[in-house]
Amino acid sequence: MYNARMSESPSSTDRERLTIRQPDDWHVHLRDGALLQAVVAHTARPFARAIVMPNLKPPITTVAQAQAYRARILTALEASAGAAAAAAFTPLMTAYLTETTAPEELERGFEDGVFTAAKLYPAGATTNSDAGVRDLAHITPVISCMERIGMPLLIHGEVTDPAVDIFDREAVFIERQLQPLLQRHPGLKVVLEHITTRDAVQFVEAAPANVGATITPHHLHINRNALFQGGLRPDFYCLPVAKREQHRLALRGAAISGNPKFFLGTDSAPHPRNAKESSCGCAGIYNAPYAIESYAEVFSQENALERLEDFASCFGPRFYGLPLNEGTITLERREAAPEEAGLPALLELANGTDQPSRLVPFHAGEQLSWRLT
Ligand code: DOR
Ligand code: ZN
Repeated sequence: MYNARMSESPSSTDRERLTIRQPDDWHVHLRDGALLQAVVAHTARPFARAIVMPNLKPPITTVAQAQAYRARILTALEASAGAAAAAAFTPLMTAYLTETTAPEELERGFEDGVFTAAKLYPAGATTNSDAGVRDLAHITPVISCMERIGMPLLIHGEVTDPAVDIFDREAVFIERQLQPLLQRHPGLKVVLEHITTRDAVQFVEAAPANVGATITPHHLHINRNALFQGGLRPDFYCLPVAKREQHRLALRGAAISGNPKFFLGTDSAPHPRNAKESSCGCAGIYNAPYAIESYAEVFSQENALERLEDFASCFGPRFYGLPLNEGTITLERREAAPEEAGLPALLELANGTDQPSRLVPFHAGEQLSWRLT
């Protein structure tokens, strides 16, 4: 089923340029309205397809909502980047699981090609997760249906038990929730999203082939110290929160390992600056503007650039059972002059809005040594 070009990959590298098969983003928040219009072109620039998270207000729970949201995404992309950009980009929609989700609705959406996957948010775990699932036992018919039809379950893997330390919530989720879930449903296709711990890496490595994981650029670059570097740094706050250095190193090892269970998912999650810089700031790192460059930096630092294409462009589609992209992208190495200004620190919301605000992208003010041509 997989494209024959996998074995004769277009990847080629020399010191200055790296050409790889066009990548996809297997986890992104594109938002809605003015924010959608401001951010969508950043994702569509390097990525051919993106798994679009459904945690809008209200969440995307029905086939009709997903179809309407997909249309809004393409309209916003056309308005901000033109018709050719919109024609070249495929949003892959997801269903937000609630305790009242009907298996029939999921199955219909999956069979009709509207839903690519369904997302499990433990209720209260993160942004707009209130309508999520309180107890996995309450959605057994839904999970059984997904297992039967081969529909991937995308998991925000954190327990919400306030007695559990926030830095342990992923590891405890794996032990208390995910392991038992996979024992009950061994055929279920699961993506443990945005993994942040060595525990998650080891769990996914040991699991059967129907379990995979996405890794974000920010969890490859920062550890939890970044949140407190010289003061409180809301731009580095996301969920699951960054962990200790040993966990970051385990994630880097997984990303460059060539293990097809680990693939690219940015979890780009924009929040306007005023919502981040607040007494109760929102979780989410907006990495879409430089996401592929950010991953390239990591693979370059690890002397593993020849593995970037598999991670970014091959392992995701293979896990989802989708064809590989035919096009390519080229990254160029650039040596920054010391006096050169870093990447732009702020992006204005493109569209007029009654709450004008700005977005601060990940790597703002820094230099990256790879640039998309
Ligand atoms: O940091 C995060 N931001 N983590 C999530 O799980 C949700 C996301 C968002 O939607 O802002
Ligand atoms: Zn997310």
